[in-house]
Amino acid sequence: MKDRILQLQEEISHLTAQTLEEVEALRIKYLSKKGEISQLFNDFRNVSNEEKREIGQLLNVLKNNAQDKINQLKEKLEANRGNVEKIDLTRTAEPIQIGTRHPLSIVRNEIATIFSGIGFTIAEGPEIEDDWHVFEALNFPADHPARDMQDTFFIEKNPDILLRTHTSSVQTRVMTQQKPPIRMIFPGRVYRNEAISYRAHCFFHQVEGLYIDKNVSFADLKQALIYFAKEMFGMDTQIRLRPSYFPFTEPSAEMDISCNLCGGKGCPFCKYTGWVEILGCGMVDPNVLENCGIDSKIYSGYAFGMGVERITNLKYQVKDLRMFSENDIRFLRQFESAY
Ligand code: DAH
Repeated sequence: MKDRILQLQEEISHLTAQTLEEVEALRIKYLSKKGEISQLFNDFRNVSNEEKREIGQLLNVLKNNAQDKINQLKEKLEANRGNVEKIDLTRTAEPIQIGTRHPLSIVRNEIATIFSGIGFTIAEGPEIEDDWHVFEALNFPADHPARDMQDTFFIEKNPDILLRTHTSSVQTRVMTQQKPPIRMIFPGRVYRNEAISYRAHCFFHQVEGLYIDKNVSFADLKQALIYFAKEMFGMDTQIRLRPSYFPFTEPSAEMDISCNLCGGKGCPFCKYTGWVEILGCGMVDPNVLENCGIDSKIYSGYAFGMGVERITNLKYQVKDLRMFSENDIRFLRQFESAY
């Protein structure tokens, strides 16, 4: 009998169970009325008086251990089951707050998509530039006001290192590095020493365009710009080119589009003229081509440059430029549906 008790003692210490049903089966096997331990208690009657004390103690210990073991197994499984049940698989997912594109990125991407449709690829240049790439190569005379401290943020003087004031600097980067034909746009951020107000900022964004090849004419420029204006602002959009001056283009022009708010009839937005200016453009000055190592007798080209903020204002009627850099979530959320 003693041996049997010790054997069961050993057996019980190693019991395991994967499910509550298995635990119940163990309980029945050892502790139920007909279970093995109960059976031993029945047999206890036949134990000799000398052994009764010792065997009785062993039996009680065995019974308690078996009870403890089964309780332990049960508790463990119930705790695990509790964890599983806490996950409610039928619950709808947490709404995930995904970011939205910045309105300036939306418009920049749209400009890029429109020009890629007529064969323009994209390049970028550095925001910290030297005087040569921003001014000198682009035909700015030495005393041009753009070179003055008033307009340009200088980082170092002699040699002059500065924050580029326009993306036209990427024209010179590309022309010195690549052979024509070149048909590219250059989006990027530019910096000017301006007092910040609702209509001016010390940094803003431009997209520059450049096309250099044999026999490029002003008519090509005009066609590309009409195409752009209609794609960007709608098929009814009209354009008008006014003669202008830029050191790096000759002839130069500024382009207006028919006011997209009043359709050209005249409103406060277009100051009752029916037109709003959107970009500068012209034929690349032969001096600029030569400065960049391109033979101006063989090649000609056109260039244009537009402000991304300006186009965004026209598309979305943003009245205050400062909104673009304030990161006010209430403003940015309004562009959630655009991409
Ligand atoms: N760089 C000029 C500016 O920042 C814009 C511009 C005008 C770019 C005429 C051009 C151009 O490429 O041909 O105001």
